[in-house]
Amino acid sequence: MPQIRLDKFISERTEYSRSQIKQLAAAGKITLNGTTVKKADIKTDPDADTVEVCGKRLSAGKHRYILLNKPEGYVSSTEDSDGPSVLGLVPPEMRTKGLFPAGRLDKDSLGALLITDDGELAHRMLSPRSHIPKIYIVKLARPFESKYIDIFKNGITLADGDKCGPALVLPVQNSEILAFVQLTEGKYHQVKRMFAAVENHVEQLMRVSLGGLVLPEKLAFGECMELLHKDVENLFRPLDFERFCAEFSGFFSAILINK
Ligand code: URA
Repeated sequence: MPQIRLDKFISERTEYSRSQIKQLAAAGKITLNGTTVKKADIKTDPDADTVEVCGKRLSAGKHRYILLNKPEGYVSSTEDSDGPSVLGLVPPEMRTKGLFPAGRLDKDSLGALLITDDGELAHRMLSPRSHIPKIYIVKLARPFESKYIDIFKNGITLADGDKCGPALVLPVQNSEILAFVQLTEGKYHQVKRMFAAVENHVEQLMRVSLGGLVLPEKLAFGECMELLHKDVENLFRPLDFERFCAEFSGFFSAILINK
């Protein structure tokens, strides 16, 4: 990419105006390749340089991919409707025009939600044909029963007659009421309705992976991180479900059990 002015690059990649960028630079909040710059009218090559604003790296790519650890109480839409929109959780240095949540989590659900301005990727990710597996951890009202494993594997029929595709489910070790579920489709309230169909009830639900992208330990509820190109590619590289459950059960069950 040819060299462009640093303030132009930052204004294109964030919601900050040129005058706010000037103030941020004067306050020492902008770095170029690790060095604080007090003036933002200098030139940069966004492909080669590392630009950080308020400690957050700005990517030079055409599109923006943000992973949010969704807290309860926010709606997966672009507007405040039945509650505040998840977009309100995106910090100004990551906000650009055209962002939307790629997929949805219920208002009371937690965990991994991709926010992007890349309609093509969202379509690829959400299309039933792409079968991107998503893993959830659930807290159940009643103990897990081993019969769920085969019932889910064979494709459960929901109370309204809707038939689900095959899904994987495993109990979390050392817990009676926690389980991991992997789906490759996204029907309305699907996980909750699947457990309702086996006469259980989901009390808490957290999405812990999107394809091969696992919710990172360091990302607290309500926090966002910008994804790098390799993380975005991981969306399309599925994980081994059993290995995932063995590796991450301690970490994710501790989060859910304390909610
Ligand atoms: N399934 C549900 O029931 N709710 C969610 O938020 C996601 C999957």
